[in-house]
Amino acid sequence: MPVPLEIVILAAGLGKRMYSDTPKVLHQLAGRPLLAHVLASAQALQPTVVHVVYGHGGEQVRKNLAAAKVNWVQQAEQKGTGHAVAQAMPQVADAALVLVLYGDVPLIRTETLQNLIACAGDKTLALLTAELPDPGSYGRIIRDAAGQVSRIVERKDASAAEAAVREVNTGFMAAPAIRLKKWLAALRNNNAQGEYYLTDIIAMAVAEGVTIATRVPQDLSEIFGVNSKQELAQLERIHQQQQAQQLMSQGVTLRDPARFDVRGELTCGRDVVIDVNVIFEGKVSLGDRVQVGPNNVIRDCSVGSDTVIHPNCVLEQAIIGADCRIGPFARIRPETKLAAHVHVGNFVEVKKSEVGEGSKMNHLSYIGDTSVGRDVNIGAGTITCNYDGANKHRTVIGDNVFVGSNAALVAPVTIGAGATIGAGSVITKAAPAGELTLTRAPQVTKPGWKRPLKKNKDK
Ligand code: UD1
Ligand code: CA
Repeated sequence: MPVPLEIVILAAGLGKRMYSDTPKVLHQLAGRPLLAHVLASAQALQPTVVHVVYGHGGEQVRKNLAAAKVNWVQQAEQKGTGHAVAQAMPQVADAALVLVLYGDVPLIRTETLQNLIACAGDKTLALLTAELPDPGSYGRIIRDAAGQVSRIVERKDASAAEAAVREVNTGFMAAPAIRLKKWLAALRNNNAQGEYYLTDIIAMAVAEGVTIATRVPQDLSEIFGVNSKQELAQLERIHQQQQAQQLMSQGVTLRDPARFDVRGELTCGRDVVIDVNVIFEGKVSLGDRVQVGPNNVIRDCSVGSDTVIHPNCVLEQAIIGADCRIGPFARIRPETKLAAHVHVGNFVEVKKSEVGEGSKMNHLSYIGDTSVGRDVNIGAGTITCNYDGANKHRTVIGDNVFVGSNAALVAPVTIGAGATIGAGSVITKAAPAGELTLTRAPQVTKPGWKRPLKKNKDK
């Protein structure tokens, strides 16, 4: 029978050096709270329970991650990492294997954790360590003459010889719950920081004849924590670089992987080209041969193959068909659906509208709450007047309609298939199919009319 896994995530720390009213674990990396990244790695291991130990700003943390299936454990006072893990223990099954993670160490990989868990057992504590050129303030791994780990010493408690050790404690460990409970209960805080150190359980385990098995991460960034805005920015860049490398290894062309951000999930077809300064948020999919120009923001959209998104557009919650031309300077708002071969040009805003195949709106328009048929041409400056000051109304434009420039279509209104609307018209009633409809004051010329002259002020 496989041993059930329970995960304890420590997230109670204050994050003093963030100088922020937001709890540290809620600061965002790639558009998601740090803690959400750790939770995702935790869930991927399919544990029976994830316990999150919260403290500072606890209500905010719980509210922000209310959708997460976790057991919230409060640590009212931060008395050290050992004390923090101990808070969760009454709710952990004796038969479980416990894995300890950190809410502010977001880049830990699932494979690394799998490797760690795989070597933990009844009589084995698994510890993730790393060799650092500059071990800084990390806890030092002390090994005996035979090379076995005997204990961990915190930097502040270390002798000069111990401080010189470059193998450090990453904090990640896995141990059988039944033993862990006993060790945690025996912790004392007679050390340099007056804290209950989780790291002190290592010497206790060794004394009990438990083996300490060590593993290392694939990449050092996996063990980096966030304690300041500088570190947050560093991890953001590392994470973005990794995402960029991943996409390029799948064949995506990035004009500059350093000027590219994915804050969510981006999936790309073949031969996609992405220019500089593009931000993808939420879930975005790009079909084959899609080209995204510079300075675009694309959030929760799917884009059909061969579509070109010119520079400086903002697209949100839209389904864009194949072979469309968007922008430059277009704004596509939620609940918009463009069929294939649609053109949405500069300074055009489209909201909550469906646009049929081959239709074009190339300049300076607002199309909202509208259904546009196929092969429609919307002239420059056309506005659907969808709002009467209290309610929104729909505009329906049939196939093959031609709307002249600067028309105002006052919804609710229908333009029949094949109709032509004269430039400058204000259309308030249904325009019949196949006919020319226009509202226009007749053009007059006043022969011989003279412009008024300025009065002579000297008189
Ligand atoms: C800890 C380790 C150290 C290791 C380092 C890796 C101990 C005693 N030391 O040191 O060996 O090299 O992590 O980064 O474990 N936390 C709580 N409640 C508390 C105290 C801490 O939830 O009462 C959380 C913090 O929010 C943080 C994590 O535990 O996420 C680590 O705490 P921190 O104080 O940063 O430990 P370090 O001194 O860095
Ligand atoms: Ca730390």
